[in-house]
Amino acid sequence: FHNHFIESVRPLIELIDSLKLIGLDEDIGLPSIAVVGDQSSGKSSVLEALSGVALPRGSGIVTRCPLELKLQKLKNGPWSGIISYSGHRETFNDPLKVDTLVREAQNKLAGKAVGICDELITLEISSPDVCDLTLIDLPGITRVPVHDQPEDIGDQIKTLILKYIAKSETIILVVVPCNVDIATTEALRMAQKVDPEGLRTLAILTKPDLIDRGAEIEVLNIVQGKVIPLSKGYIIVRCRGQSDINDRIPFDKAMEAELKFFRNHHYFSSLLDDGKASAQCLADKLTKELADHIKKSLPSLTEQIQTRLLKMMGPFLSEVRALRIILVFSDQINELSRTGHSKDKNIYISLRPIFKKW
Ligand code: GDP
Ligand code: NA
Ligand code: MG
Repeated sequence: FHNHFIESVRPLIELIDSLKLIGLDEDIGLPSIAVVGDQSSGKSSVLEALSGVALPRGSGIVTRCPLELKLQKLKNGPWSGIISYSGHRETFNDPLKVDTLVREAQNKLAGKAVGICDELITLEISSPDVCDLTLIDLPGITRVPVHDQPEDIGDQIKTLILKYIAKSETIILVVVPCNVDIATTEALRMAQKVDPEGLRTLAILTKPDLIDRGAEIEVLNIVQGKVIPLSKGYIIVRCRGQSDINDRIPFDKAMEAELKFFRNHHYFSSLLDDGKASAQCLADKLTKELADHIKKSLPSLTEQIQTRLLKMMGPFLSEVRALRIILVFSDQINELSRTGHSKDKNIYISLRPIFKKW
């Protein structure tokens, strides 16, 4: 992926990571992107297209815990991965191990059966071939429990999804296949409930190669926002289908095939130029959206942090050092939101002991 935003996004993502590191995400909502959709809508395929690694997939509930996918673009250097969850942390350098390691993590956290769990698994991927982006993959929405599943599995999943998308700091990425009626999609309905004006919802339409003949115009209208308007809009992507996977079509070939598919498409070719089609467009758009979103939330974030610090420090105001750190911290955030750069990212780490103490 070419990434024009690399310089401006990285410091913002690092800031949010640092705030998570000091435990601030517990009660202050930090900006993030959550991926939601019905089961088999193509969520994992979209994340695969963005990350270039094969994630667990199959029929049934494959994603059983929230999976935070942290992509970090390297200028050069080898591919590396880190998986971490509840005290476990493992570094590896074979992309083919991702599938096994994620399944292992899910089995440990959610049990070997078909249950779900709301503990987070974090998968960090550093590579020259990804964009700077952090996304959270959530279990797919199901209606009918299969044999071993608890009766209320559907409600459990919805509760878990709501926990993420209800936060006003979350960008909601709704994944909907082109070959279903978008208006009746449960995922979109859930997004509309928490974001009625569609201000922080972006929809991805998948499986454009499976549209029924004659339904193309309707899909085109949807992508152009003429059916259900969303201020962040729609992007249509074509990912690897089951036969591409069986034939072991590699990701770069799949990406080329995707561009060719849209370029030659009688109805959709203009969407490429409009920035509304392909995984490449999606990556660019998401990176930009995330950066804008973080920048927009910085003032309120700073305020929340300051309020919290002041409250915690009430009895300790003699601690001049702590006050100075807060001032420097605010300056850093201001500078970051103004210029997109920050001189000293260790400043966030220096906040850590203060939060630990109170
Ligand atoms: P998830 O359950 O939402 O994570 O869905 P998956 O990503 O596992 O996709 C479900 C099925 O749809 C898989 O067999 C994919 O290969 C297939 N699929 C995903 N995207 C596309 C697409 O653009 N075209 C086609 N033909 N199949 C797709
Ligand atoms: Na699935
Ligand atoms: Mg999946």
